[in-house]
Amino acid sequence: MRTIVEIEAAARKRLAPAHYDFYAGGADAEETLRANEEAFRRRVLVPRVLRGVSERDLSVQLAGSPLSMPVLVSPTAFHRLAHPEGEVATARAVARAGTVLVVSMGATTAIEDIAAAARAAWTENAAEEDAAARAAAKGEAAAREAAAGEAAVRIAADGEAARGEAAMRAAAKGEAAAREAAAGDGQAARGEAAAREAAAGDGQAAKGEAAARDAAAGGGTAGEAAAGGVTAGAVAVSEGVAAGAPALWFQLYPQPDRGFTEAVLRRVERAGVAALVVTVDSAVYGQRERDHRNGFHDLPPHLAVENMRDHTGRVRDIAMPAALSWADVEWLRAATTLPIFLKGILHPADARRAVRAGVSGLVVSNHGGRQLDSAISTVDALPAVASAVDGAIPLILDGGVRCGTDVVKALALGASAVGIGRPVLWGLAAAGSEGVTEVLERLRSEVDRALALCGAVNPAGLTADLVR
Ligand code: FNR
Repeated sequence: MRTIVEIEAAARKRLAPAHYDFYAGGADAEETLRANEEAFRRRVLVPRVLRGVSERDLSVQLAGSPLSMPVLVSPTAFHRLAHPEGEVATARAVARAGTVLVVSMGATTAIEDIAAAARAAWTENAAEEDAAARAAAKGEAAAREAAAGEAAVRIAADGEAARGEAAMRAAAKGEAAAREAAAGDGQAARGEAAAREAAAGDGQAAKGEAAARDAAAGGGTAGEAAAGGVTAGAVAVSEGVAAGAPALWFQLYPQPDRGFTEAVLRRVERAGVAALVVTVDSAVYGQRERDHRNGFHDLPPHLAVENMRDHTGRVRDIAMPAALSWADVEWLRAATTLPIFLKGILHPADARRAVRAGVSGLVVSNHGGRQLDSAISTVDALPAVASAVDGAIPLILDGGVRCGTDVVKALALGASAVGIGRPVLWGLAAAGSEGVTEVLERLRSEVDRALALCGAVNPAGLTADLVR
């Protein structure tokens, strides 16, 4: 499995230099861009030990949306510059991972198409998980048969020759069945999926593993084969992946034309979006020096910002909402029943104000260092925001999250989940949907490992004393 740094290098090779710079770059001297990552490096973990961490659960709930891990995908514009399938490829990977994709208002694919891709991927995934669960159950049955066979072999060794012979045949049959189940039709190798369903269902995989272990303890290869069939599944049981439909959220820059903003709201609601993320750190465009140097200002003519089409079919430019104020937040709350997150909160006083405004959550974000340069890094801003909010609403942090220990640090300091922006673009550019999956699954395994090594069994078990 490649590291995120390696995936970025692969993406860079495939991207036009101006497009790579558009994704990678920040505002002005890029101080905040660098600070986001450096602030994680400046912090160290002080782990707890001897806490019995074999049963871990990475899942979290945010505003009613289930996430299989505390990592979601922050909104980034223009995915079709990274890969021809663009946001459809991203949505597929994110749905399969069981987490949230926040679709950017600057997406190059219509929200309806993104939602359809997410739904299809989820359904396909659920069907595979079903099949895998059946394979795991078969493994369990095979293990039982094998165990019975082995017991019989022992009886045979005691001298009951006739019964022993039959038992030997049963053991051999059990072994074959177990091997078949273990090999499955590739499902066992995908065992994580197997166990997800089993975990959500009735613990089949765990039971299967136990049965297989019993058989293996009896000394038979049949038992071992069966155990092989379900062990991978049992790993995922300990990951505790949540069941539930994939959630798409939508990121909004409220437009000066409220009628148009309302039309966008109705459209994304109809598409089944589960929450709104209102970006509030972009009163005006940040100064992106790399884009100016490269003369990169517009999408190529075959691409468009599809969710900015008005009723005539014309694509409007996204206006940066300089006039935006708390009155607009109030207006938005009345204009939709969707949960609203404010994205781009760094000051604790704004966080307190947001709680009073009745929003559902905040994204502690400096827009990945692309807006105000010299803005505080997000992990530096987090503790004061967390203490201002005091648990009233969930906090998501994004900016500079590149590995599992970054996630663990942010959660310990008060975030309920983190968002990643650029790493997903690197995965998409490097290998399309599979590349996004690679990034998400790598992070998942890193978070799981970091959690265990910090002595925690779930995100809630991470406390501020673990970070210095
Ligand atoms: C962004 N970001 C962003 N944010 C937003 O609210 N609306 C948007 O359309 C975009 N577009 C966008 C494009 C690109 C290329 C990047 C890199 C970022 C900001 C994004 O949501 C997030 O805050 C940062 O990307 C998080 O930092 P990392 O993970 O990229 O370091």
